[in-house]
Amino acid sequence: GKGNYRHFMEKELHEHPAVLGDTLRQYLDPKTLEVRLPRLPFDPVRVPRLTISACGSAFLAGMVGRYWIEQLARLPVDADVASEFRYRDPPLPEGGAAILVSQSGETADNMAALRLLREAGQKVLSVVNVPESSMARESDGALLTVAGPEIGVASTKAFTAQLAVLACLAIGFGRARRELSTLDEGRLTQALLEVPGHAAAILERDEQIKTLAAEVAKARDVLFLGRGSLYPIALEGALKLKEISYIHAEGYAAGEMKHGPIALIDREVPVIALCPSGPLFEKTASNLQEAAARGGRIMAFTDAEGAGPLSRFAERVIEMPHAGDFAAPILYAIPVQLLAYHVAVLKGTDVDQPRNLAKSVTVE
Ligand code: F6R
Repeated sequence: GKGNYRHFMEKELHEHPAVLGDTLRQYLDPKTLEVRLPRLPFDPVRVPRLTISACGSAFLAGMVGRYWIEQLARLPVDADVASEFRYRDPPLPEGGAAILVSQSGETADNMAALRLLREAGQKVLSVVNVPESSMARESDGALLTVAGPEIGVASTKAFTAQLAVLACLAIGFGRARRELSTLDEGRLTQALLEVPGHAAAILERDEQIKTLAAEVAKARDVLFLGRGSLYPIALEGALKLKEISYIHAEGYAAGEMKHGPIALIDREVPVIALCPSGPLFEKTASNLQEAAARGGRIMAFTDAEGAGPLSRFAERVIEMPHAGDFAAPILYAIPVQLLAYHVAVLKGTDVDQPRNLAKSVTVE
């Protein structure tokens, strides 16, 4: 049941800390600070490149996975939505491998991608939440997200659990390929181990996010901006908002603003910025400042270090825990999901069962 929560989605949002802890404990050792992966169906040292295929939010998790794997393991990754991948007839390398990401493990387009990949001789590893699903059974190997059943149609805890698994994989690949030292691995796993605690702290920002939601609920259009591994999270924020509140939203790479979307900016369009401190901060902040100079209302999520510079032009700054670059996408996914939730509640939509949608999309 829903317990004391109004909706399954709210209950599932509050399960983030526990689910992240359970999933991370499955794939990393808190004592030695090492990633511990089961036997994989391919050797990350030998594969020339990886294909990631998924749909919807699971694809956005895969997109973050791409940033991580390329950065930490220097392994080229191609990420695509399953419905495009399967008809694109992409050249696949001999000895190649793929990662499929899915909560249900039943999504029709991704099942078709799975069969196509295996016929093309690619080894397929799936990251799934349902152990007895078709995808888990038909893949060469499966890593489970330990999210428990997800009832709300909009994915929440399964999404962050997918990120947790992909983060562990990226570290594991990096180590196997000798791109990461033991010290690097320790630093990265330590950052992941702090994620559940930070997630709990973010859930305590609920009132602040409700206040932001009251502004967003009045808008007709909303822009989400992020850079690097926060770009897919901007897309996730826009997807969630559309899906459950029916407000039109778009996610953009912050650096793309000046190539078109900045024409949309006026007082009516809230700009939700995901802008943690770190190597990409200055660039993103300057994109946001350009939007602010054109009357854009910047609502920024950042950490203590970023709050000062951003508050010079942002209408609202919500301070997040300082988690470091690597773990940031996992943590910034939580407030954008919470925001969509509160906006939907204010709008009075059917949060757990949005119109026209099904939990598991078994038609192509
Ligand atoms: C969005 C959402 C969907 C799913 C997508 C894939 O909130 O839930 O976009 O992520 O339908 O479903 P799975 O993960 O079951 O393959």
